[in-house]
Amino acid sequence: MADGRKALVTGGAGFIGSHMVDRLLKLEYDVVVIDNLSNGKIKNLDSAAVFHHTDITQPAMADIIQREQPDLVFHMAAQTSVTQSTQDPIADTNANVLGTLRVLEASRRVGVEKIIYSCTGGALYGDPGTIPVTDDAPIAPVSPYGMSKWMAEEYLDFYYRQYRLRYTSLRYGNVFGPRQDPHGEAGVIAIFSQAMLEGKQPQIFGDGTQERDFISVFDVIDANLAAIERGDGKAMNVATGVPTSVNRMFELLQGITGYKWDPLHAPQRAGEVYRIALDWSQAAQVLGWSPKISLEEGLQMTVDYFKESMSSTGGVPQTG
Ligand SMILES: NC(=O)c1ccc[n+]([C@@H]2O[C@H](COP(=O)([O-])OP(=O)(O)OC[C@H]3O[C@@H](n4cnc5c(N)ncnc54)[C@H](O)[C@@H]3O)[C@@H](O)[C@H]2O)c1
Repeated sequence: MADGRKALVTGGAGFIGSHMVDRLLKLEYDVVVIDNLSNGKIKNLDSAAVFHHTDITQPAMADIIQREQPDLVFHMAAQTSVTQSTQDPIADTNANVLGTLRVLEASRRVGVEKIIYSCTGGALYGDPGTIPVTDDAPIAPVSPYGMSKWMAEEYLDFYYRQYRLRYTSLRYGNVFGPRQDPHGEAGVIAIFSQAMLEGKQPQIFGDGTQERDFISVFDVIDANLAAIERGDGKAMNVATGVPTSVNRMFELLQGITGYKWDPLHAPQRAGEVYRIALDWSQAAQVLGWSPKISLEEGLQMTVDYFKESMSSTGGVPQTG
C-alpha cells in the first residue's frame, strides 16, 4: 500500500497513463497528473487525481513539481507518433528529450525517490536479426521517435550515476487495451476494433505480414508497480516475446467482432520496423514480473470496451 506517498504521472490523461492513475488510486497513493492534453483526454482521468494542464517542456512544470513534492514519478508524457517524429523530429526531440530532462531536473531538485520511465522496445532495436530480442542487444532505432526515447533513457542513467536519482526504464512492446485512441496511428488493435464494430473497412499498411509484440496495458501497469521497489538503474523489455502478424491480428479481431470483409491495403509507412518481439527475461528476473493476460483475453476486453463506449454514446464511438 501507498503509506501516504504521492505519485506524479506525466501523461496521466493518456492511454497508459490513465490506467496507471487508476491503479495508483486503488493502492491509495495521492496522485498528481501533468498532461498538456495534446493526445490525452480529460474523460480518461479519475477526478480523485489532482490534474495540472501543463506541458512538460515548459518551466511551469518544474514549479508544479516543486509545489507537489512527489515521492515517485511515472514518466509517460511523450510525443508518441513514429510518423510525426519523422515529419517533425524537432518537436519530437523537444517533448521526448528536453521534456524528460526538465522532468529529471525538477525531480532531482525536490528529492524524488524514483522515476519509472515508459520507454519503447518496439522502436529501439531496429529490425533485429533474431527475435525475441534481448535488452542487451545493440540499440539501432530507425525513427526519430526511437532515438528520442533512447536519448531520454540515457539521461535517466546519467542522473542516476551523477545524482543517485533512482530509475527503471521499461521498454514496452506494442501496448493495447481499453482507452487506446482508435484514431491514432499506433494502436492497430484499437483502430481495427472500432472500425470493425462500425462496419468500416480497416486499412493495413503494407501486406500485413509485419509482426509486433502485443502486450496488454494491464500487464504494463503491473510492471510499473513492480519497478517501484526493484530494478534500479536498469532498462528492460516489458512484452510477451511472441510475434503476431498484423494479418493474424485482423483475423482474431474478425472472430471476436463478427466482421466479415477483407482489409484495405495502403503503402508501408516510413520509420517502421518489420518484425519485432522482445525477450522479457530480465523483467522476470529483476522485477518478478511476467505477462498474465493472453492475447485473446486482452483483445476481448478491448473490443468489449469499444462496444460499451459506442452503446453509451448512442452508437457514436467515444475516443481515447
Ligand atoms: N502505446 C504503446 O504501444 C507504447 C509503446 C512503447 C512506449 N510507449 C510509451 O508509453 C507512454 C504513454 O504512451 P500512450 O500510448 O499512453 O500514449 P498517449 O499519447 O495516449 O499518452 C501520452 C500522454 O502524454 C501527453 N503529452 C504529450 N506530450 C506532452 C507534453 N509535451 N507535455 C505534457 N503532456 C504531454 C498526451 O496528451 C497524452 O495524454 C509514452 O511515453 C510512449 O512513448 C507506448
